[in-house]
Amino acid sequence: MVKTVFRHFLCNVLGIERWHAGDEERHPYRQEILRRLHTQAPKSMLEIGCGLGDILCRVPACRRLGCDISARVLWAARLSHPLQWLVRGARFATLRLGEPVQGRFDAVVCVNFIHIIPPADLQVALRALVRDNLTLGGVLVFDVVSNPQYRYNHDPAFLLKDMELDAEVVGGFEFGRSLVFAHKAAGE
Ligand SMILES: C[S@@+](CC[C@H](N)C(=O)[O-])C[C@H]1O[C@@H](n2cnc3c(N)ncnc32)[C@H](O)[C@@H]1O
Repeated sequence: MVKTVFRHFLCNVLGIERWHAGDEERHPYRQEILRRLHTQAPKSMLEIGCGLGDILCRVPACRRLGCDISARVLWAARLSHPLQWLVRGARFATLRLGEPVQGRFDAVVCVNFIHIIPPADLQVALRALVRDNLTLGGVLVFDVVSNPQYRYNHDPAFLLKDMELDAEVVGGFEFGRSLVFAHKAAGE
């Protein structure tokens, strides 16, 4: 309750969408990502479009970078997760999907915003993330929706075309959402 009030306060003060004020637990897709990442136990994680960091800040990776197109959203993320930011080393940076990111990560997550990105642009952006930012043995996580109310209903096969990833699509989430867990081979 106190947390929700604080988040509404942050949304008002920072002028960000009230969507972000919602309860951290309310999205089943987040629970599934967290469940799988807890099992995989990545040592590093990159989330693009991280919002208030409710996925990023709940994965116990050693090195975590959350990126978002909105600097104001990222201030709300830092203030929502001060322990993770100030003590546990979670970092935040303003960045638009498609812009270059430094470093490699065991988990790269892009969820609940890519339905606004045209398929060809998204394919290029995901390909760059896999090539430049995903470790061998790492996992790329993204979502697709099957719902005419969303701008783009992406096809995972198109997005992952020519990438040698072992992909699993897990459906049944809210608003026709499926999650894609695409693993990069661990190599020799
Ligand atoms: C609905 S929120 C989802 C937050 C988080 N991924 C989650 O699922 O809990 C979408 C976030 O993506 C960010 N965003 C939208 N377009 C983006 C882009 N092109 N590049 C990076 N972030 C973007 C928004 O600012 C917003 O914070």
